[in-house]
Amino acid sequence: MSAAVVTGGDPDRRQPTEHADTGVELAGIDLPSPILTASGCAAAGRELDAFFDITELGAIVTKSIMLKPRAGRATPRMSETPSGMLNSIGLQGPGIDAFIENDLTWLNERGARTIVSIAGETVEEYGRLAAKLRSSGGFDAIEVNISCPNVADRGQVFACRAESAAQVVQTVRRSSDSRIPIFAKLSPDVTDIVEIADAVIRAGATGLSLINTLLGLVIDTTTMRPTLAGTTGGLSGPAIRPVALRCVWQVHQAFPTIPIIGMGGIRSGRDALEFLLAGATAVSVGTAVFHDPSAPSRIHTELAREVRARGFDRVQDVIGFAHRADDRDVPSPASTQHTTPAPQETSSLEDWDFITE
Ligand code: DHB
Repeated sequence: MSAAVVTGGDPDRRQPTEHADTGVELAGIDLPSPILTASGCAAAGRELDAFFDITELGAIVTKSIMLKPRAGRATPRMSETPSGMLNSIGLQGPGIDAFIENDLTWLNERGARTIVSIAGETVEEYGRLAAKLRSSGGFDAIEVNISCPNVADRGQVFACRAESAAQVVQTVRRSSDSRIPIFAKLSPDVTDIVEIADAVIRAGATGLSLINTLLGLVIDTTTMRPTLAGTTGGLSGPAIRPVALRCVWQVHQAFPTIPIIGMGGIRSGRDALEFLLAGATAVSVGTAVFHDPSAPSRIHTELAREVRARGFDRVQDVIGFAHRADDRDVPSPASTQHTTPAPQETSSLEDWDFITE
């Protein structure tokens, strides 16, 4: 999965490679790749490690962990939707103590960079989770999930109100090692996501994860009831990509120096490139891994090629590039710099046939 600008050896004989350098700096952390897993879609990375070397990704973002073990919602918990998926897992998990002992220990032994996602029912619970992580160490950043749609009442979706979103983030910031970056994961289900972003940045968020799933519903026309046991669920997959991209665009425009992890229906290098151009520094791959567990690794390679094909040597240089005022800085067409034609997208809409109606 490595990507270099040029091959080594005699400088006069070096040929440009077809891959851009994929290293990015995310909130002070040097990542070899901007491709991360998405919380909730790869557990703690063990299963994906059977398909590719997870240490070559930017980081593993773990499933949101709560204070106590939790069985989650009754089944059915997942339903296919047009170009997407609706889920209501209900934050199933082993609880923070078992997570630290088993999953975090394994990730450290494996040498993977790790972003730990935390979720609480109250502001105080988030503080206790952050304090436990401060004691354990062994991770690179925290993603504060304040936007899970599958909670007992909408009042617990802290990210839907600026004040409650800020309270959670401030508590996590105060309970954490000051050197640890904190990413607040926001919901698109709000009138103005920039207002929520502003509140959490003021409260101490280092960066933002954009976006969580959208609240959705599917009705089974045979039983004539909601398909999911939890009635509503979180919508993910390519169906939400333009919404996610719009959120990244708006927030980057308002806060250009704040690092953003973008996510929402990314299934190819070209999709990932869209998010970087809109202003994301890194991207998480989620729903795509359910039908293609190697997707994060494939998307890494595709992105390196897509960026190079546009005349850039470094992925870092395309971040926010779609916001530029004029075209004076656009590199020469790739064809004048190297001979590799722009690759075709390797995954097509047909790959999603199983998930469309
Ligand atoms: C769950 C949590 C989420 O944050 C989400 O977006 C979807 C589902 C859950 O565990 O139910």
